[in-house]
Amino acid sequence: MKHKYQNFTIYIENDYESLSHTAAKIIAAQIKERPSGIFGFATGGTPVGTYKCLIEMNKANEIDFSQITTFNLDEYYPINKTNSQSYDFFMKENLFGYVNINHEKIHIPNGEAKDVASECENYECQIADAGGIDFQILGIGLNGHIGFNEPAETFQTFTHYVSLDTTTIEANSRFFESVAEVPKSAITMGIKTIMMSRRILLIINGAQKADIAYETVFGSITPRVPASVLQLHHDVTIVLDREAAEKMLPRI
Ligand code: PGA
Repeated sequence: MKHKYQNFTIYIENDYESLSHTAAKIIAAQIKERPSGIFGFATGGTPVGTYKCLIEMNKANEIDFSQITTFNLDEYYPINKTNSQSYDFFMKENLFGYVNINHEKIHIPNGEAKDVASECENYECQIADAGGIDFQILGIGLNGHIGFNEPAETFQTFTHYVSLDTTTIEANSRFFESVAEVPKSAITMGIKTIMMSRRILLIINGAQKADIAYETVFGSITPRVPASVLQLHHDVTIVLDREAAEKMLPRI
């Protein structure tokens, strides 16, 4: 079901499968509209189903990735690209390895960079040189992070190095053998980098995200809930499953 609330267009789907289809259709429509556009991609458990649908659509010749340029939101630091937990590896495994994308046009922060500060600066410059991001896909952390912009006293503006929250390390430990193996730091696009995107798609799945989904849309705009800043963006689409939308449903 489609709702409009303030600057948000909100789709509530029955389950993860239909959420993934809806999100993929929205992305596919954007790729058709801007065949050589600049697309921001996200990692995490949430977009995996969406990426599967995009792979199917690409196989069926319904969408063409060959001209697009991509920038991923974040990457652990330090991490080797060959590490199966790196986001570089994740994107190959879950999308880029299976579609007709031009691999020279893929950008992911370099977890192997020697100098992290210049990697952050270079990444931000590459986005600016490409003309900014046309369409940014986001997931959300249980603590409200977008990218790895963790709750803080102030919004971090541009691409930066960040120490991960204990809650993020715990949440991400499900992908590792143990909590001890989860990297403790990362490189992430900043809040301003994300907010400068022309269009944003936020995907939220599962009952455990119902509180943070509500805070994002109806709470105060605060760096303590980084995603709340999306209330200030002019074009945000949110796709949720029914469980994640549970708390917000009475108000939209
Ligand atoms: P998840 O992560 O999709 O694995 O829940 C989302 C995020 O941390 O941005």
